[in-house]
Amino acid sequence: MKIRYDVPQKKCVMRELKTFHFRTYGCQMNELDSEIMEGQLLSRGLNKVENEKEADLLIFNTCSIRDLAERKVMGKLGQLGRGKKRAIIGVTGCMAMAKKDSLFRKFPHLDFVVGTNNITDLNTVIDEVLYSEKQVFKTDDKYEENLDYLVAHRENKLKAHVSIIRGCDKFCTYCVVPYTRGQEVSRPYKDIVEECKQLVDKGYKEVTLLGQNVNSYGKDQPEWNCLFHDLLYHLDKIPGLSRVRFMTSHPIDITRELMYGIRDLKSSCNLVHFPIQAGSDRILKKMHRIYTKQQYLEKVAMLKEIIPNVSLGTDIIVGFPTETEEEFMETYNVFKDIRYSVAFLYTYSPRKGTPAMRWKDDIPEEVKEDRLQRLMSLYNDISKQERSEMLGETLEVLVDKISKDKNRLRGRTRCWKKVVFEGDPNLIGKEVPIKIHSMSHQTLIGDLVQKEALSLV
Ligand code: 5AD
Ligand code: SF4
Repeated sequence: MKIRYDVPQKKCVMRELKTFHFRTYGCQMNELDSEIMEGQLLSRGLNKVENEKEADLLIFNTCSIRDLAERKVMGKLGQLGRGKKRAIIGVTGCMAMAKKDSLFRKFPHLDFVVGTNNITDLNTVIDEVLYSEKQVFKTDDKYEENLDYLVAHRENKLKAHVSIIRGCDKFCTYCVVPYTRGQEVSRPYKDIVEECKQLVDKGYKEVTLLGQNVNSYGKDQPEWNCLFHDLLYHLDKIPGLSRVRFMTSHPIDITRELMYGIRDLKSSCNLVHFPIQAGSDRILKKMHRIYTKQQYLEKVAMLKEIIPNVSLGTDIIVGFPTETEEEFMETYNVFKDIRYSVAFLYTYSPRKGTPAMRWKDDIPEEVKEDRLQRLMSLYNDISKQERSEMLGETLEVLVDKISKDKNRLRGRTRCWKKVVFEGDPNLIGKEVPIKIHSMSHQTLIGDLVQKEALSLV
């Protein structure tokens, strides 16, 4: 089906809407939202194109978490406004929520703005744009559990993101998410299980459960009797679902039951993304993280005690207002003690509308950058050491694709380590044992263990 419309005025010179292109910024939740929106557009008869210049409909699914993410989109939108208008242009995602219709004032060539809670309305909004001469926006503050996840169009045929809870009730003082994604709303567990079953039927081997705080899952719906660890038990019963990952876990909400689940369930991967954000109690309090360093360390000790070989991940912000060198060193030393396997490290970026805006952004950019670099170099040293400890080990690798150099296959271990090895491309999609013999920057290199491979494949 092709959508026909008449827009004789200057807004848009196209007469037919046939193709679309998405530009997605930010987190995995945004990537998943783009996949859902792409699915909606495909089912309306449009075709996806890789080249944005060929698109009749151009959508920017945006992120507001840091200033840089917003500036990239603003720059791109400004640039589009200077050329001849040939596509319908829309903004979705967190910036749509943060800026709403004020975007129209800055970008008169923008046709629509759809917020994170209105993804379901995308096609209706596009229709409104097509049949009216108006700029249209839909940015509800509250999310209604009404999204059709099954329509999602996924490029990856092996690993899928699955949303389990939307929004965040934590209100860390630096963070826009509670304002751009609203309050926590869990998705019915039966729908999640059904989606995962369907994914497995299509050949998927791995799902990553997404939520700003997956540990809150189910708390807003006590009558379901299904908290996050219960959900993991339900998913573990799906035959063929080899790996279940999840992110992010707020440290305050992690429970012993969840740790036992991660330990006992064969599908649950034992990598826990467990952001500390800062290592000093004063900064943690100012961030409203609602735990102290000691409480955090106790949870880490519990995780390490309960789950053998657990890998830990973190997010850290350096240069938060008033952070001293000593306080930064507390963060550095916690990192050194815990030896995170995965880390996302950021410099503080003041965000409009957040409580932290009331404090002066007083740490000079070069000091923030210096702290970030020191932390990154520690992270690199730890990762290198961690990889070298894996030499000689045999690891279970889910084979993803052909490696960049084209000569080898590439995959990931259950703890997210990247592995390359020589093998037949028909191993893609299988879990195989690889004996690690060497390593390069960020990658482990190994050989297929033939005998065991036969029994596993
Ligand atoms: N500045 C820098 N980093 C931020 N994050 C969230 N808000 C900000 C901000 N204003 C980081 C946090 C969070 C991750 C997704 O992004 O570390 O865990
Ligand atoms: Fe933002 Fe904090 Fe919620 Fe994470 S827990 S999304 S950092 S407010």
